[in-house]
Amino acid sequence: MIGDVLNQVKETKSASLEIEVGTAFSLCTTSPRHVINHPMMNGFPLAGQVALVTGAGRRIGRVIALALARAGADVVVNYNRSRAEALKTVREINALGVRGVAIRADISKPAQVRAMFRGVEKQFRRLDLLVNNAGIFFPAKWDKLTEEDWDRILGVNLKGPFFCAQAAARIMQRQKRGRIINISSLGGLEAWPSYMHYCASKAGVIMLTRCLAKALAPHVLVNSVAPGSILFPDERSGPWSENVIRTTPLRKAGRPEDIAEMVLYLATRADFITGQVFAVDGGKSIP
Ligand SMILES: NC(=O)c1ccc[n+]([C@@H]2O[C@H](COP(=O)([O-])OP(=O)(O)OC[C@H]3O[C@@H](n4cnc5c(N)ncnc54)[C@H](OP(=O)(O)O)[C@@H]3O)[C@@H](O)[C@H]2O)c1
Repeated sequence: MIGDVLNQVKETKSASLEIEVGTAFSLCTTSPRHVINHPMMNGFPLAGQVALVTGAGRRIGRVIALALARAGADVVVNYNRSRAEALKTVREINALGVRGVAIRADISKPAQVRAMFRGVEKQFRRLDLLVNNAGIFFPAKWDKLTEEDWDRILGVNLKGPFFCAQAAARIMQRQKRGRIINISSLGGLEAWPSYMHYCASKAGVIMLTRCLAKALAPHVLVNSVAPGSILFPDERSGPWSENVIRTTPLRKAGRPEDIAEMVLYLATRADFITGQVFAVDGGKSIP
């Protein structure tokens, strides 16, 4: 039945990989892909391409995944805890006439990352775009920061994007084409004393972007989008968010769509841009 989900659970030596494949696309006899692949349909610049977005079950990652699908890409929705949300995103992707696949992997675990990319290769035989979106964010005063806090934040925010990029780049280098977009943060450009672990992890993502861009040129382009205040964590609405908005030159929070639009630009245009960081922050990073 259209919209059904096929569950395949594969055990690997080091990690268990759960792939959830939306079947709506493959059951269509006249596939929408045939329509969007038509040369006249240039409203679908990513037609025929495969993208993977980490942390794409909800919030900004979800909006990015849907924007890429609307541009014609088949999209792998990575998630860790938000299985129901990831499956919902996959259903929405399928409804757009392209293929969506959800793969669970904790990106801070390199074995799970490798298993995820093996799953992508098996499913699609290619990968054109990686968006390293998954991240964590929590405050901690400098005198309270623990080794566990550091391991957690660097594991998800820095080590994870690196190992995803490493696995993706191996496929992309073989294809001699590909793009990697790392979602960093305004916190990687500014110093926030109560979030120094987060700021350090995101500054690391920006440097990782530059190093990868040089290492993977000329075939793979690597750039970063640094969001300002887009969606506030639930516990941080109220006076805190009002203050952030007051100190943002454009006097508003951004929308996830603002980030998705920049990702789309870097994914579909920007042929002469690599190793750069684009702040989408309402002007807050202006010195
Ligand atoms: N929101 C903002 O205003 C803002 C501002 C600056 C930068 N950013 C950056 O933009 C990105 C998205 O932000 P957001 O606010 O949408 O994030 P969020 O609400 O904190 O969501 C985090 C996402 O990351 C995923 N994730 C967390 N740990 C993971 C792990 N170990 N393995 C795989 N996925 C994991 C989560 O997946 P599960 O739920 O499936 O576990 C979730 O989809 C992040 O990198 C964030 O740092 C956001």
